[in-house]
Amino acid sequence: MQKRTKVVDVLKSGAVGSEVVVMGWVRTKRDSKTVVFIAINDGSTINNVQVVADVTNFDEEMMKQITTGACLSVTGTLVESQGAGQSVEIQAKDIKLFGACPADYPMQKKGQSMEYMRQYAHMRLRTNTFGAVMRIRHNMAFAIHKFFHDKGFFYFHTPLITASDCEGAGQMFQVTTKNLYDLKKDEKGSIIYDDDFFGKQASLTVSGQLEGELGATALGQIYTFGPTFRAENSNTPRHLAEFWMIEPEVCFYDMDDLMNLEEEFIKHCVKWALDNCKDDLEFLNKMIDKGLLERLNSVINTEFVRLPYTKGIEILQEAIKNGRKFEFPCNWGDDLASEHERYLVEEHFKKPVIMTNYPKAIKAFYMKIDEKKPIYNGKEMEETVQGTDVLFPQIGEIIGGSVREESYDKLIGEINARNIPMKDMWWYLDTRKFGSCPHAGFGLGFERLMLFVTGMANIRDVIPFPRTPKNAEF
Ligand code: 4AD
Ligand code: MG
Repeated sequence: MQKRTKVVDVLKSGAVGSEVVVMGWVRTKRDSKTVVFIAINDGSTINNVQVVADVTNFDEEMMKQITTGACLSVTGTLVESQGAGQSVEIQAKDIKLFGACPADYPMQKKGQSMEYMRQYAHMRLRTNTFGAVMRIRHNMAFAIHKFFHDKGFFYFHTPLITASDCEGAGQMFQVTTKNLYDLKKDEKGSIIYDDDFFGKQASLTVSGQLEGELGATALGQIYTFGPTFRAENSNTPRHLAEFWMIEPEVCFYDMDDLMNLEEEFIKHCVKWALDNCKDDLEFLNKMIDKGLLERLNSVINTEFVRLPYTKGIEILQEAIKNGRKFEFPCNWGDDLASEHERYLVEEHFKKPVIMTNYPKAIKAFYMKIDEKKPIYNGKEMEETVQGTDVLFPQIGEIIGGSVREESYDKLIGEINARNIPMKDMWWYLDTRKFGSCPHAGFGLGFERLMLFVTGMANIRDVIPFPRTPKNAEF
C-alpha cells in the first residue's frame, strides 16, 4: 500500500507544494461544471480535507460513483485553499476508488436522531458526532492511565469471571457451560453446580474492588480499568448492562485523602479533554450541547462541596418546607433518588458535591463504620459509614467510593448481618486477618465520565456498542 498522510497531519503541516496521499471516506461532494470538490475524512480528526478535482482529468463513471460514504485514495498537490474555512486543500492528480457507497447507506443523511443512529451502531461510528465521541473516549482512557501511572499506582487486572457479588445487589449475569435444557437439581430443587465448568456458581463481575483490595494490600496503590456487568433492569439514560469502571484502591488513606484523590482525578480527566480534544469538544459544543465548554471549564476551576448525608437531608427537608416538590420521599435513612442529588448539585450548590457518611443500611458491606452516630433533628440516628459518592451536574452519581472496614470483627459482623455466604469470602477476609491496614478506594463509571465530558445525553451514545436490556445487537 502507498504511504498515506493522515488528514490531521495534512491540515497541520500546511506544506504547500508538497505531494500527499490521503485515504478516507467521502463526507460531501459538490460538483461545478469544471471541478468537483470532495470533502474527505479519515477519522484522524473531526476536520475534513478538501480535494479539488478537474473533471476532465478523471473517468466519468468513477467520478459518478464518488458519493457520500465512498472510500477513496487521493494523490495530489497541497495548495493554499481558495475557499473559506480551511487553509490548504489537495489538487487531485490521481483518485482511486476503494469502495463505492450505494444510496441505501444508512448514514447518508445528515442530522439523523440519536435513536435512528443507535439502530445502525455499526455505521454511526463514521459520523462526525460519533467520531468525536470515540476520539475523546480514547483520550480519556489514556488520561486515566497517565494520571495513575504518574502517581505511582500499578494497573492491576482483576478477573471478569467471579463467584462473589461485591456490591451485594444480586444483579449478576451467570456464566455457565451447563446444559440449560437439562439442569441437575438436588432434593430441595436447587441447581447442582459441582459439575459446572468452575465447580461452583460463577458470574460476570459487578466490580473489581474485592480483588483490587488484595492487590492494594500488597502493592500499596493500584487501579483497575476494565469492563463490569450489571443485570439491573434499569432502562435509563445513565445505566448500561456492560460498562467500564476505573477502581483505584489505596493503602493508608483516610476519607479526606480519598476525597482529595476523587476530586483531583476528575479534574485531571476534564482538563486533559480541554487540552487535547479541542476540535472535537468545539464540535460537540456547537452541535450537541451549547453549555458544554463552559461546564467543563467551571468544573476544573471549582472546589467540590463535601457534604455529609445528614446535612444533605437537612437541606432537602428545608427545600420541601419552602415548597419544593419531589416525586420520592427523602427522610433520614432513604437512599437519595436522582432528583434529590440533582437538586443539591444543580440548584442548591451549583457545583459538584461529594456526599459522605451515609446510613449503613443503604451502602455495601465493606464500608468503614463511623465512630459516632449522627444527630438529626436533635435525635441520634442509626450508624453511618465512610462512603464518598461524587455527584455531578447532569449526571448524578459519577463516583462511588469509601474507606474500607479494616477491622476483621466488624467486617465479619456485617457479613453475618447481611447473610452474605461466608465461605465465598474467606480470601477477602484474609486481608483483615493478616496484616490488616487502613485503606480506601472508589469506582468511577467510565461512561458516566464520558457523558459529562462530551455533553451527550444518553449513555448508549458514549460507548461503541451498548449493552442494555433487550439489546445486544452488533
Ligand atoms: O457505586 P458503585 O456500585 O460502586 C462500586 O462498584 C464500588 N465497588 C466501587 C469501589 O469503591 N471500588 O459503582 C461505581 C460507579 C458509579 O458511581 C457509576 O458511575 C458507575 O460505577 N455505574 C454505572 N455506570 C453505568 N451503568 C451502570 N449500570 C452503572 N452502575 C454503576
Ligand atoms: Mg454507588
